Amino acid sequence: MSNGRGAVDDDPLVALASELTSRLADGAGTGGARNDLEPGRTYLVTGCAGFVGSHLVEALGSRGCSTIGVDAFTDNYSRAAKEHNLEHCSRHGDFRFVELDLAESRLEPLLEEVDAVFHLAGRPGVRTSWGPTFGAYVHDNVLATQRVFEAAVRQRIRVVYASSSSVYGDARVYPLGEDSALFPVSPYGVSKLACEALATAYALSCELDAVGLRYFSVYGPRQRPDMAFSQVLGCLAEDRPFGVLGSGRQTRDFTYVGDVVGATLAAMQRAPSGRVYNVGGGCEISLLDSLALFEELVGRRVVRHHVASAAGDAGRTIADIGKACAELGWKPTTSLESGLAAQIRAAAEHEAGRAVAWV
Ligand SMILES: NC(=O)c1ccc[n+]([C@@H]2O[C@H](COP(=O)([O-])OP(=O)(O)OC[C@H]3O[C@@H](n4cnc5c(N)ncnc54)[C@H](O)[C@@H]3O)[C@@H](O)[C@H]2O)c1
Repeated sequence: MSNGRGAVDDDPLVALASELTSRLADGAGTGGARNDLEPGRTYLVTGCAGFVGSHLVEALGSRGCSTIGVDAFTDNYSRAAKEHNLEHCSRHGDFRFVELDLAESRLEPLLEEVDAVFHLAGRPGVRTSWGPTFGAYVHDNVLATQRVFEAAVRQRIRVVYASSSSVYGDARVYPLGEDSALFPVSPYGVSKLACEALATAYALSCELDAVGLRYFSVYGPRQRPDMAFSQVLGCLAEDRPFGVLGSGRQTRDFTYVGDVVGATLAAMQRAPSGRVYNVGGGCEISLLDSLALFEELVGRRVVRHHVASAAGDAGRTIADIGKACAELGWKPTTSLESGLAAQIRAAAEHEAGRAVAWV
């Protein structure tokens, strides 16, 4: 991991860090056959009852892989919504669910059964990471991740883990490359950066085989209820105005969940050990412009009111995804228009009765 400020030649700590970083970046192996996602292999997906995790389980099932999914049903949103996500997991292939808290339960018995780990469990969300809830972020992001890494080192298996664009904060140069400066502007971003630092420490000192993925604003069917497009859908369904944070001119690199799953599978198969990749959709759009697109798709006006911008929300995110494209053979294929249409359709199907009017 680089801090992007350039090496100071005569600082021994900086020299050591840069030597170790380049050793890791040489990619000591790609983890071997157990990461090939061939039918018959078994993978652990943490956070399988979540938004992205449940899509990943479906993709693994449709490839003929078996999946053990774990989740703790944490309180960032309702258990009912997470149980609905789990129903999708059970529809595909050989799937077994274990309810446990990664920060508290013994993980070795689970990891003994699998070929590799997709670690997507975590506590997302920038705005709620201030104040007393930060303890939950430390528990679900830092401690849970450290325990997954410990167990993976013991089993000598690969971990592909979810990081976030929030590790960058407000940058001066865009698009954001993996070696851009890392100055998170929220406690959530700090907790994700801590996970990346843990991955580096365990790789350098204990030969952990880990690959980090910095997801950028994921959307699509079953998007978390606290995220913007889900909120807009909820407001339309209940005839409430949508609260636009600040001016609404802040931009995001929205990434369709199917593309995120594609990058995550490709990282398991092809990433050299120790790498971190941006996973972005490749198109930067302001919140206001995305609302206009939303209105076109649903054929209804989204009534809005402006509320104060939230501390910790970056003004702009746009990823340079060149490294993931070159090294993983992956690129996003879903336009915001078709991805949003899929999210709207799925919400309408789920909400059947009351949502029929949207489409
Ligand atoms: N959705 C995005 O836009 C986005 C962007 C960047 C990074 N990420 C990261 O991707 C991952 C998945 O995000 P998501 O949007 O699907 O979130 P989500 O909240 O829908 O899913 C995360 C799941 O992890 C589970 N979990 C949390 N702590 C746990 C613990 N200690 N033990 C077991 N299970 C636990 C939760 O119950 C939840 O079901 C997270 O790590 C998140 O930080 C997401």
